[in-house]
Amino acid sequence: RVIEAGGRPLIPGALDVHTHVREPGFSHKETWATATAAAAVGGVTTIFDMPNTDPPTANAAAVREKIAIAGPQAHVDFGVYGYVGEANLADLQPMAEAGASAFKLFLGSDNPLVPCPNDGAVLDALALIRETGLRCTVHAENTPILNWRGAQMKAAGRDDLAAHLAQHADIATVEAVQRIALFAEWTGCKIHIAHENCRHALPVIAAAKRRGVAITAETCPHYLLLSMDDAERAGGNALRVKPPVREAGHAEALWAALLDGTIDMISTDHAPHPVEEKHRASIWETSPGFPGVETSMRLMLTEVAAGRLTLQHYVRLACEAPARAFGLWPRKGALLVGTDADLVLLDLDHRETIRGATFQSKGKVTPFEGRETEGRAAMTFLRGTCVAQDGEVIAPPGTGRSLQPP
Ligand code: DOR
Ligand code: ZN
Ligand code: ZN
Repeated sequence: RVIEAGGRPLIPGALDVHTHVREPGFSHKETWATATAAAAVGGVTTIFDMPNTDPPTANAAAVREKIAIAGPQAHVDFGVYGYVGEANLADLQPMAEAGASAFKLFLGSDNPLVPCPNDGAVLDALALIRETGLRCTVHAENTPILNWRGAQMKAAGRDDLAAHLAQHADIATVEAVQRIALFAEWTGCKIHIAHENCRHALPVIAAAKRRGVAITAETCPHYLLLSMDDAERAGGNALRVKPPVREAGHAEALWAALLDGTIDMISTDHAPHPVEEKHRASIWETSPGFPGVETSMRLMLTEVAAGRLTLQHYVRLACEAPARAFGLWPRKGALLVGTDADLVLLDLDHRETIRGATFQSKGKVTPFEGRETEGRAAMTFLRGTCVAQDGEVIAPPGTGRSLQPP
């Protein structure tokens, strides 16, 4: 599975099934050009964009519009998610026909652009999505429970990241994962649990897999490598993200779940915000999320160097598993040869310190600021063309394509 090229390993291009590109609507946070440039230098050759843009990607016209905006800017290949809501059940099939690669359900949302549908509508939506054959990614977090806790903490004058935690954060995740696994079981819809952060949800996912539910799950480098103890070191509110990075002890269980197959893949939840939205005095006013597509491979190769996982295992988590789950294997995620090949030539010896100021992404605030990494993508090839080399983008915008050509 790993080919040596001049002593350097050649692996498939990575897929990131969880990125927030921000256009249309939030070009000040990120553009298709900057997000896909970040992906290219990070060794990621396929991204899936989340639908919480303005307008949200909630009908066939919005899917077509997003693909039209993305195409001329893209440095890597891309899929777009269709939003699942109460008001657009009749739009699900048309979105699939218009080129959506998957669906996204916010089972818990504070964003009025993409509200959380009621449970009856969720059940109907999963039945409809099953007919499209596509997978539904789920932000599984019971936000009323978290918001109740947040309101109490705010009233008590608590303004630290740990105010998000405690039992409420555990139950918010476990309950939502349990509920959506049940709905998937009854409808036969393929689901994917986004950004798993909580050790208590892992037995729930494992049990659903044992029952034969078509469920996959991802976690992200920040849940594997950071804990609430890093909040201070990360500087201000850089670490604020939904769902929250948890107390020490959760990460170890997430690593075990990667090794035993309960968690199938690594994504990034790349969620860039401008500096002024991250450095607000109160956490309650700080935008959640940070860029990730540029640093994920570097961070995970550093763990490979440390002996925490093998390179072969990393390739399964970052390339093969997402391609299989989202119906792209072996066109994506496999070690192909020829003009269709998405490949990354690794430099395992490259040492560098993470500095947000150097990012291609417009999001410059990262909780990994100052972290030393070992290993990176030296050259990224998209369908045979070298699109990035040594941290620089070298192919023009428009080299990337939609996964679902119209
Ligand atoms: O931290 C987050 N940021 N979590 C989400 O669910 C949304 C995302 C964003 O769009 O900024
Ligand atoms: Zn989410
Ligand atoms: Zn997200």
